[in-house]
Amino acid sequence: MTQDELKALVGRAALEHVAEGGWVGVGTGSTVNHFIDALATMKHRIRGAVSSSEASTARLRGHGIEVVDAAAVDRLPVYIDGADEIDHRGHMVKGGGAALTREKIVADLAERFVCIADESKLVPVLGRFPLPVEVIPMAAPQVARRFAALGGQAALRVGVLTDNGHPILDVRGLQITDPLAMETEINQWPGVVTVGIFARHRAAVCLLGTPGGVRTLTF
Ligand code: 5RP
Repeated sequence: MTQDELKALVGRAALEHVAEGGWVGVGTGSTVNHFIDALATMKHRIRGAVSSSEASTARLRGHGIEVVDAAAVDRLPVYIDGADEIDHRGHMVKGGGAALTREKIVADLAERFVCIADESKLVPVLGRFPLPVEVIPMAAPQVARRFAALGGQAALRVGVLTDNGHPILDVRGLQITDPLAMETEINQWPGVVTVGIFARHRAAVCLLGTPGGVRTLTF
């Protein structure tokens, strides 16, 4: 199976985690696009969606699925999203699609984070994928220097601004052995809007696409 077929497989499998009659939190990316297409088949059995990006909102609305702002709901039963990396405890690196800030906001509303990913995303230690960090522009050089002190090389993602209008630093060379501690530390740095480590908002479940079918990991 191709990587895209594995993504489609878990996109469809995620429907089992959608509460009938409820709101669903929707992430961003190519795996989530498959989920959105599958969600369209049960659109009359959900209230609607809270979306984490302009791109996902457009795709949801294109299917006739109602999208409301995150500010309009208190809680979501589930948030479904992909990841750039996930470890064996459900910690993730996210933000490859530049949607990390809204993803963390919507994930924070949800009782459960269900991660959907092809098997290439499962890693023993986070950090092989460059860590995305959304920053306030004037702080980018000093945030980059802080990463250098930790052994990371930060580079601005060229030609990309987030839906919030901010640039992204991609940080290579980190070994994220303690995701919660590193997320907590980076969150303190002035000018950091969001770091793409999802440890406080780790997955409760991961549906992993493998050639043998969907493997369910619970954390
Ligand atoms: C977007 C994300 C995505 O979840 C992540 O990049 C995975 O994307 P894909 O499903 O296309 O592999 O964090 O900001």
